[in-house]
Amino acid sequence: MQIDLGGKVAIVTGAGRGIGREITLALAREGVITVALDLNSTDLENLSREVEAITPDAMHAVCDVRDADGIRSIVDTASENLGGIDILVNNAGVVGDALVDELDEGTWDLIQDVNVKGTFLMCRAVIPHMKRRGSGRIINAASFAAISPRVGSIAYATSKAAVAHFTRGLAGEVGPWNITVNAYAPGMIPTAMNHFAELPDDKKAELLDTLTLRRWGSAADIANLICFLSSDQASYITGTLIDVSGGKLATQIPSEAYDRFNAYGEEGVDPA
Ligand SMILES: NC(=O)c1ccc[n+]([C@@H]2O[C@H](COP(=O)([O-])OP(=O)(O)OC[C@H]3O[C@@H](n4cnc5c(N)ncnc54)[C@H](O)[C@@H]3O)[C@@H](O)[C@H]2O)c1
Repeated sequence: MQIDLGGKVAIVTGAGRGIGREITLALAREGVITVALDLNSTDLENLSREVEAITPDAMHAVCDVRDADGIRSIVDTASENLGGIDILVNNAGVVGDALVDELDEGTWDLIQDVNVKGTFLMCRAVIPHMKRRGSGRIINAASFAAISPRVGSIAYATSKAAVAHFTRGLAGEVGPWNITVNAYAPGMIPTAMNHFAELPDDKKAELLDTLTLRRWGSAADIANLICFLSSDQASYITGTLIDVSGGKLATQIPSEAYDRFNAYGEEGVDPA
């Protein structure tokens, strides 16, 4: 299968580091002209040097996804300069851990504002451009927390469930204009958001034990999905939440399979 995204224009939020950085680079490598947005200007500058070596027309801008006026101005400028917007990846997100009775309102508001309202504001600004062109791809960062919340992370899980629901609702609204809307549920991908790479070995093993594939994911695993969802080959997929979590949600106790595998030694094959 040949994915042809050459010449398309994509806006990626939270592009400065982690998964968003890899999504932006992967799209650029597929010939997409990217508009990278993030709060962090240093990360953006570093990224843009790499991206512009691949696609010189690429743009980047410091942008807070909670800033409706700033978003409109950047989206309108990008559309005018680059001839439209084909793809929007709402990847920016924040997390905050606390039990409900210890959670402060500021943290709750920040998480809902960035993860949910930010997604809404970006879509609101981009959709008129996609409607005019009669096509578009919107791809939103959810999480497996949208389906199964983690203890101590309820504000984040609630926000991601809202993103998943928003994705379905919006898919229904914009279907007639040939705009698809999907969400991705990454996990577990070590980034600066979750600090998985810095955990002690026993804690790492505990987390990996919850996965059917028992290994960390990579940002490239998500970027590959984004490239596919952006392509013509994915034109009949909309309103979905796609889980890229090494089978986090597949089985109840994945270690039961590993116990059997290990019973046969290193190769996991019955010598008989
Ligand atoms: N890493 C994982 O395993 C995992 C799992 C589930 C979901 N996710 C989701 O995937 C997305 C990317 O996660 P990541 O691990 O790369 O996180 P990350 O923290 O490494 O990157 C998030 C990026 O978003 C930017 N950002 C934060 N607030 C912003 C704002 N108000 N406006 C603009 N940009 C803002 C940050 O500056 C940062 O560059 C997030 O939405 C996250 O919730 C990640």
